[in-house]
Amino acid sequence: MQKAKGTYDVYGEYGRKVKALERILEDLMQVYNYEYFRTPIFEASEVFHRGVGDTTDIVTKETYDFKDRGDRDMTLRPEGTAGVVRSYIENKYYGNANVPSKLWYYGPMFRYERPQSGRFREFYQFGVEVFGTNDPAIDAEVISIPVNFYKMLGLKQIKVHLNSLGDNESRNNYREALKAHFAPHLDELCEDCKVRFEKNPLRLLDCKVDCDLEVMKKAPKITDYLNEESKKHFELVQKYLEAMGIEYVVDPSCVRGLDYYTNTVFEVEASVEGFGAQNVLCAGGRYNNLVKTLGGPDTPGVGFALGFERLLTALEYEHINLIDEDFIDTYIIPMSENEKEFSMSILNALRSLGFKTDIDYMSRNLKSNFKQAERLNAKFIIIIGEEEAKTGVLTVKNNNTKEEFKVKLDDLVEFLDEKLDECNCGDDCHCGDDCHCGSNCHCKEEK
Ligand code: HAM
Repeated sequence: MQKAKGTYDVYGEYGRKVKALERILEDLMQVYNYEYFRTPIFEASEVFHRGVGDTTDIVTKETYDFKDRGDRDMTLRPEGTAGVVRSYIENKYYGNANVPSKLWYYGPMFRYERPQSGRFREFYQFGVEVFGTNDPAIDAEVISIPVNFYKMLGLKQIKVHLNSLGDNESRNNYREALKAHFAPHLDELCEDCKVRFEKNPLRLLDCKVDCDLEVMKKAPKITDYLNEESKKHFELVQKYLEAMGIEYVVDPSCVRGLDYYTNTVFEVEASVEGFGAQNVLCAGGRYNNLVKTLGGPDTPGVGFALGFERLLTALEYEHINLIDEDFIDTYIIPMSENEKEFSMSILNALRSLGFKTDIDYMSRNLKSNFKQAERLNAKFIIIIGEEEAKTGVLTVKNNNTKEEFKVKLDDLVEFLDEKLDECNCGDDCHCGDDCHCGSNCHCKEEK
């Protein structure tokens, strides 16, 4: 049996990188004061049809739709925003006095796309959604999250492409202008575009088939159709970005493939050598109509989502290492089955106190166990033989210096606390000449 096309398994070093990224993002969300939010992986199809839009590629060509056993139309979520909005409304989150509601989420999304580098059928998105304010400063905050995150990770040449799709009035005017522009050229357009022309002319601009046509290149630009209010919003977003030191380019071709956007839209690219076409690391924008469209009160929203897979590929190409060397504090070696029970009690006690501990489950001989301790990067080895079990005086070996100690069971925790503190000195090393540092210590090389 093989995994389904466009999916992938996570294990080993890749898994450690994924987990490291998740941890960094969780910490970052605390710094930004965002709250964790989780919605189901499948929703009634209507959530995405009405939310993402009936004329978008995502909904017309890419959703995983199915009937459940109750004959209901269900869809695996192709993105996070529509589900979060559905939940925001259903749980009456708009009644929360703590506004704006700043939410973050993370999880798998599903799109039936042609798999290629950076494009999967199951992929993971981290995203944020902010509800309850139309302040352009929050647009700037939302854009700052991925930019600061990518910079923090060490990615260079981060490019923000910024555009505004304007409010309803601006977009209606623009829609008319697009229709007038494309009407004489309908026969040059692909079949999909003919439908887009009727149903949603804005979608014409992100057609992957017709994008090189002269008529596409000469299409009117939304920025020429923004009314005063939309213009002001867009200018303020730019001012706040500048105040935050975030570089951007205004890019009228950035229209985004989802129907719900109003005003600010953006994409963030990283210039990574060998990265290829899928270099959009994340994207987002404002959606002031979506909460109302899905049945809630008139509430503005703005957000973005970033793909994990593309980010991990970018980090790999840029040789950015996310994972510290793995280690454990102690590795316990019972010398025979007779000492297993006593050893298991020590294992459990140490773990319950937070020591990273493992034990031999393979009945290895002492030599192979020492090798295993090396593989696990154990800082200390606790050897438990007949004598140790009888007297309660354990043999504890510093796996780095190979020094051996006899430690009474009652003193074990205090001993490890003290010794591991020495070993964990890391970058703030004050241990001077006494250092018997283990693998985690960076001061070793300096000596
Ligand atoms: P999106 O542009 O469709 O926006 O997706 C956001 C990001 O998800 C992309 O920039 C990319 O990194 C990643 N992504 C999308 N499709 C795939 C795929 N097939 N394989 C791998 N990665 C992929 C949204 O999803 C909006 N919900 C963003 C948003 C949130 N707007 C407002 N709030």
